[in-house]
Amino acid sequence: MYKMKLNLLVLLLFNIIYVHCFYLPGLAPVNYCKKEDETKDCQSEVTLYVNRLNTEESVIPYEYNHFDFCLPKPDSKSPVENLGQVVFGERIRPSPYKIEFMKNSSCVDVCKKEYKGNDKTDNMLLATLRKGISLSYKHHWIVDNMPVTYCSDNRRDSKVYCTTGFKMGCYTRNKRTTCDPEMAEEDAYYIFNHVDLRITYHSGVKEDWGSQFGSNGGRIISVKVTPRSVDHSAGTCDGPNSKLLRFPPKPLGKDEKFEITYTYSVTFIQDNTVKWSSRWDYILESMPYPNIQWFSILNSLVIVLFLSGMVGMILLRTLYKDIARYNQIDNGEDAQEEFGWKLVHGDVFRPPRKGMLLSVLLGSGVQVFCMTLVTLAFACLGFLSPANRGALMTCAMVLYVLLGSPAGYVSARIYKSFGGEKWKSNILLTSMLAPGIVFGLFFIMNLVLWAKGSSAAIPFSTLVGLLALWWLVSVPLTFVGAFIGFSKRTIEHPVRTNQIPRLIPEQSVYTQPLPGIIMGGVLPFGCIFIQLFFILNSIWSSQMYYMFGFLFLVFIILVITCAETTILLCYFHLCAEDYHWWWRSYLTSGFTAIYLFLYCCYYFYTKLQIEDAASAFLYFGYTTIMVFLFNLLTGSIGFFACFWFIRKIYSVVKVD
Ligand SMILES: *[C@@H]1O[C@H](CO)[C@@H](O)[C@H](O)[C@H]1NC(C)=O
Repeated sequence: MYKMKLNLLVLLLFNIIYVHCFYLPGLAPVNYCKKEDETKDCQSEVTLYVNRLNTEESVIPYEYNHFDFCLPKPDSKSPVENLGQVVFGERIRPSPYKIEFMKNSSCVDVCKKEYKGNDKTDNMLLATLRKGISLSYKHHWIVDNMPVTYCSDNRRDSKVYCTTGFKMGCYTRNKRTTCDPEMAEEDAYYIFNHVDLRITYHSGVKEDWGSQFGSNGGRIISVKVTPRSVDHSAGTCDGPNSKLLRFPPKPLGKDEKFEITYTYSVTFIQDNTVKWSSRWDYILESMPYPNIQWFSILNSLVIVLFLSGMVGMILLRTLYKDIARYNQIDNGEDAQEEFGWKLVHGDVFRPPRKGMLLSVLLGSGVQVFCMTLVTLAFACLGFLSPANRGALMTCAMVLYVLLGSPAGYVSARIYKSFGGEKWKSNILLTSMLAPGIVFGLFFIMNLVLWAKGSSAAIPFSTLVGLLALWWLVSVPLTFVGAFIGFSKRTIEHPVRTNQIPRLIPEQSVYTQPLPGIIMGGVLPFGCIFIQLFFILNSIWSSQMYYMFGFLFLVFIILVITCAETTILLCYFHLCAEDYHWWWRSYLTSGFTAIYLFLYCCYYFYTKLQIEDAASAFLYFGYTTIMVFLFNLLTGSIGFFACFWFIRKIYSVVKVD
């Protein structure tokens, strides 16, 4: 009976994670139909958008028209982008590829580009293309709000893996090739000037949306592309004697000429086995190692259980005993000497040095914490699926701005409890310091991107918009929060602080501050490092991240571990009569961020093949922002856990 209930519970949990956090409710479906059946309920034109190109070998993405590809008619409109997309470098643009629903076409010309050796600009355009090919830049096309995917057989397990995006060309150089091995010739560049698009659609089935289109309409399920290099001067795309188009490996000589004709073929294939609502699955299922997710959760859970056991033991056994003993001594006639953490009761609440900075960091930490929590909750409910481009980052940024009030409030209350008087500086610092650091770093990064002509450089107007969000929304909200915080009564501590500080006895190696701090970050980091791999992949290798269910769980686990480790170490330190816990509790769990940084470095050297300096600079710039925010987050979790713990234990012992 119990077993069944447990099974049910597990099933339910599984369902919540899978269905709500994995299943991606896309936006409203679009119905397509043949041109002759076009009504206002369906359209025949399948629009193809192009996005920026990126690569794993560089952090700098480029817009489609940075390269000399075919351009659409000048009057075609780009779709409206949200803040998250603009800030994070997505640039969705119209394309010259025209596709009509259910109309197969083969080898349609898009445009022809000619390059002459005696023209300087032509040689420069070729050089840009060559550079793109040699860095394996990838196209990212979008059809019906779905990424166009490139599918290939994995040689190892003969499964088909689909990735979003496809390379703009390939090369063989020094016995290394990025092309198909059978086409590889020595030392050659090839540009993929032809694409075969295979569009699968789900045709009118009555139950789905009423069969008003019959078999002449449907919804798009997937768009897969096979890019090829075709020398059009030697024949058509699919002719038996078609040849590859060799791209000039060096600048053209004076009388040399080079021509690229861009073409495409489209095939529509009916497939009624896949539902429209699960059309994202094939991309998500192609993610590498999905099983590792369960392993990651298991790993984190083991750490949490272990820690909870430790903390539980201490709280219930040692602490209980301590308290019983302390209170017994008080009742006894002959007052024995005090010992352990009770000794420092007159000092634990002595305000720390640099209380201003600590309170400001804590305020900002609370802001980051609330932002992460709410964003993940939204993501878990499926609002921020990949179909909803840029929504995740937009949501996070807007929340960060709106959560200025909690930051101001917390910072003010903590600062007031330290007996701080400079409340104006406190408010100003809370609203300026953390956002200022993030914005400043972001601005420097943007200058580099600008200099490189990258599409990730955000336009000036967006930059001004961000500044306005900060100054006109976030800062006033912080002020409001801080005023409420300052007008509240000071937090009362359970024990009084002595006039004269106690001397701290000589500490052993284990109870000295630094070893404790360094150890403190290990376990929280152990909980997250597997997830981290996927997150970094999604940021730097344009893999899609969708496991928000897992991420949410891992976040909760991270919070618990941070809190528990800090409490544990805090207890040991107090027992060793070292009462400087304020900063230490912040730094103990905040040290997780340093491990995060080290992991990012490791990732940089092993996973990415970045060679140019600007790219490396950008990578570490973004990493610094991430590490800083993560430090705020974990640090404040540790601090507040410890704060709560200390208030609890000192309110139970009797102190005369
Ligand atoms: C397009 O080509 C595919 C594959 O050759 C074929 O199955 C399909 O019926 C064709 N569609 C049309 C509308 O001709």
